Amino acid sequence: MPTNTIDIIWNAATSVAPLGFVPVAIHFCLFDALVELDRPVKGQELLDAFPEKFCGRQTTAYDTLFAMTALSWVELVDGNRYKANDTTRHLARTPSALHGVLHFATEILFSSAFLMRKLQASDFEYPFAGLDTPMQFAYRAMGNDRLAQMHTYDIMAEEGRIASFNTFMQGKLGNERTMPERLTLLGYDLASVVEEARGQGQPVTMVDVGGGRGDMMLQVKEAIPGLEEKDLIVEECNPDITAIPGLSLVVWDYNAKNSPQPVEGALVYHLAGVFHNLPDLDAVRLLRKLSEAMAPYSRVLVHERRKAAVPGSHAAMVVLYGGRERSVEEWNELVELAGLQVTFYAFPDDRGLGVVEMRKKV
Ligand SMILES: C[S@@+](CC[C@H](N)C(=O)[O-])C[C@H]1O[C@@H](n2cnc3c(N)ncnc32)[C@H](O)[C@@H]1O
Repeated sequence: MPTNTIDIIWNAATSVAPLGFVPVAIHFCLFDALVELDRPVKGQELLDAFPEKFCGRQTTAYDTLFAMTALSWVELVDGNRYKANDTTRHLARTPSALHGVLHFATEILFSSAFLMRKLQASDFEYPFAGLDTPMQFAYRAMGNDRLAQMHTYDIMAEEGRIASFNTFMQGKLGNERTMPERLTLLGYDLASVVEEARGQGQPVTMVDVGGGRGDMMLQVKEAIPGLEEKDLIVEECNPDITAIPGLSLVVWDYNAKNSPQPVEGALVYHLAGVFHNLPDLDAVRLLRKLSEAMAPYSRVLVHERRKAAVPGSHAAMVVLYGGRERSVEEWNELVELAGLQVTFYAFPDDRGLGVVEMRKKV
């Protein structure tokens, strides 16, 4: 890591254009190619080894390879040879990482580029509403009024990007602990919550709102014996997710008007990376829908990161959805408006996922 001021500025400022080359590197499978060759190679050697990938596009491939060294995702040896490093290998072997960087270098880079223009055009109106972010502004500026009226998730689906996004979510760049393991480390015993409910004859239903391809509920199924398909529900509104073997899938658009939470009285409503997609007003609306469906024994478990640890993610949520990361103080303010209270919270020291438990006020 550079400690010199100019290097810090230089590295950050000059990484923006190379990020634009990331989708090109992925298109040409440059990371896989370097890992497969497993030795320092000149650009031409790489192209010769995989002629079908690069035919007629040599110069683009040379520059893309060089641009990746600016991000340190590929190593430059002796000024003119390239070799895979640990980051190259991680990208090549981890679909979530590859699709994750694609998301940042596609939607997030695009929307960020229109942030200032959007602010200038609206006399710095802020915060953004979910349907009026720099993303919608950008499409309107480009004359695409159809996409300009859509939510960023719907734009990703329209642009053929939603399956890729869902793959990113399956691991969040890689090396994630399972949710039950993570909760145990945070001092929250999910198995005991289920055990206690069984002892008191309460339902053991768990709902994962916006649960993506269902990884979190599958992890719970694996970790806590006796939970069946009917007990583990994923609620989604995502054209790429139409069935999840071993789990129950319910189609629910939590943003829609007059759409109450479809599962009443669940033991736990999980929401991972959902609230940071929402502006405050929409977050309170969703909390209210949950609160109305909750029984006295129900709890909401929000799985999000410590705000102070993820300023980059906070900025990304702002430009994509008008969303935001939240501190515990901010959670306390929001839950108050929904008739709930924060009953437990814990975050790891790093940027890993933490947990906030909310229950109905008694
Ligand atoms: C950031 S992803 C998190 C996915 C998953 N919870 C995880 O942690 O991997 C947000 C999820 O919310 C879903 N989603 C977005 N808008 C939604 C809506 N209006 N109603 C229901 N689900 C929605 C998306 O399809 C996506 O799977």
